Amino acid sequence: MCGIVGYIGEREKREFLLDGLRELEYRGYDSAGIAVLHQGEINYFKASGKLDNLIEKTKDFRSINFGLGIAHTRWATHGKPTEINAHPHWGEFSFLIHNGIIENYMEIKKELQSDGVVFLSQTDSEVIVHLFEKFVRLNFTPKDAFKKTIESLKGAFAVLLISKVSPETIFFAKNAVPLIIGKNSQNEIFFGSSDAPLIGFADEVSYLEDGSFGWASKEEIEIFKDDTKIVPIFKLLNSSKIYAQKDGFRFFMEKEIYEQSTVTSETLMGRIKDDKVYLEELSGYDFSDIDEIKICACGTSYHAALTSSYLFERISKIRCSVEIASEFRYKEPLMDKKTLFLVISQSGETADTLQALKMAKKAGLKTLCICNVDNSSIVRISDATILTRAGIEKGVASTKAFATQVLTLWLLSLYVAKKRDKLDKKMCETEMKALRSIPSVLKVDEEIHEKLHRLSKRYLHGHGFFFIGRDIFFPLALEGALKLKEISYLHAEGYPAGEMKHGPIALADSTLFTIALMPQTMLYDKTKSNVEELSARDATILAISPKEFTLADDFIKTQSYEHPMSEFFEMMVITQLLALEISIRLGNDVDMPRNLAKSVTVE
Ligand code: G6P
Repeated sequence: MCGIVGYIGEREKREFLLDGLRELEYRGYDSAGIAVLHQGEINYFKASGKLDNLIEKTKDFRSINFGLGIAHTRWATHGKPTEINAHPHWGEFSFLIHNGIIENYMEIKKELQSDGVVFLSQTDSEVIVHLFEKFVRLNFTPKDAFKKTIESLKGAFAVLLISKVSPETIFFAKNAVPLIIGKNSQNEIFFGSSDAPLIGFADEVSYLEDGSFGWASKEEIEIFKDDTKIVPIFKLLNSSKIYAQKDGFRFFMEKEIYEQSTVTSETLMGRIKDDKVYLEELSGYDFSDIDEIKICACGTSYHAALTSSYLFERISKIRCSVEIASEFRYKEPLMDKKTLFLVISQSGETADTLQALKMAKKAGLKTLCICNVDNSSIVRISDATILTRAGIEKGVASTKAFATQVLTLWLLSLYVAKKRDKLDKKMCETEMKALRSIPSVLKVDEEIHEKLHRLSKRYLHGHGFFFIGRDIFFPLALEGALKLKEISYLHAEGYPAGEMKHGPIALADSTLFTIALMPQTMLYDKTKSNVEELSARDATILAISPKEFTLADDFIKTQSYEHPMSEFFEMMVITQLLALEISIRLGNDVDMPRNLAKSVTVE
């Protein structure tokens, strides 16, 4: 994820662009840059690290009178977070900023290199500006050159481009990542990755559609889709900044639950092609001398790890063990050099996980991390990193980070299976089909959300919750219970459904609430028997299943998916929304629950 801001008008441009980037810093902050076109000249500045570095670098720069400006804050995907990889990227007379991933950049780059173009950065984005200039040199008008450029790109992109060949125009394009265009009565034009930077400046905004592109100047905004000129729909812009940052949702956690569909498509982007998993982060990584995977993590990341242990054994056919990092540290663990040591952390800063990683490194183990924050301590220490690309998560209770961790681990299990020659063609096809469908599985069903809102009023008391499930639905039960306790402060436990009879069932009565995860693809009858045992003792049952279950007090009907992971992700959203709705009814601070912290850097 990256953040984009653009401006056309007479306002002082540095201040507007930098303030806009500040609003978008949550989308990435490993480097930033601006470019301003004024009186035929382009001034640009880039800085690695936080936005403050760019602010310092540009402190003597001002741009008044008419001009154009583009600005970018980066979340590295291709190429390290260095100054040279920061945006804007330039050719001989044009500057460009881009959010997203250009999947076919290698082909385009090779072609341009054979024409003699020299690339400065390691990014995928830089191809766009050179391709545009190539078409201009071939005598296309700037508008046609931009159109041809966009038509050549595959992948996800929000693009702003300025060029000396058209000094009053910003060219723009949008596909699969957000881009908004705004305007006001003073003839100013604004762009943003979200509407937050535009609040207080633009009166009206239009949320561009996927596959659209066009150009904007003081005189006109022209937008096209599929070769047809379209009339953009402008809506009045809400004037509350907090409301805008939350995109109209009540809490960041709610917004992040709804974002899971888009962020998981970013997680997958460029990583599956032709029924094969590509993890270029692992090229050069040798799996032949590995006979076990050991995973260490804390909290929600630990639950993602536990989920993946089923996948590594079932799909990759490799032994896998999982430990809570704070336990691992002091147990004097035996470490074998044939073990791949994998750590999972949203923040990359969790002290216990970091320490476990250092111990494994010291013992000479091969290390790998799955993390959401590039350049964090854990990323810097690990031999290799796979970034989850969830974007910054603001709600303390983790949601989209968990979804992207599980998805990344599933990808990794398939990658390892392939390396170990354990994946037959049929299984590969089934897994790829299911993987590709996850972003749509994660689209929140408004009707189910509304039902959970209504149901939640019945679950505000009682002496506790048991979330139960089997197989991968056991770690999901743990995670569902953790979400609920984190933000509702009610007592909740996750349990393997088959284990309830060995003690916890003693608690069963009408005010013991059981949230039963009953997928159709995974041990349905076994789980059903366990739920029946609880129902026979008068426990209150909320069943989540695609199959009707008559003994349930409350029932949420899920889709009839054929793959367990699809059922897993759908049920994950339901447990997240249940916790959210209960917490809201209890009047709690959903985003900043008491006693917790987003990143725990102490033991
Ligand atoms: C804290 C957070 C949890 C998180 C855990 C591990 O306790 O409140 O939401 O799961 O740390 O964090 P990590 O950043 O390592 O995933």
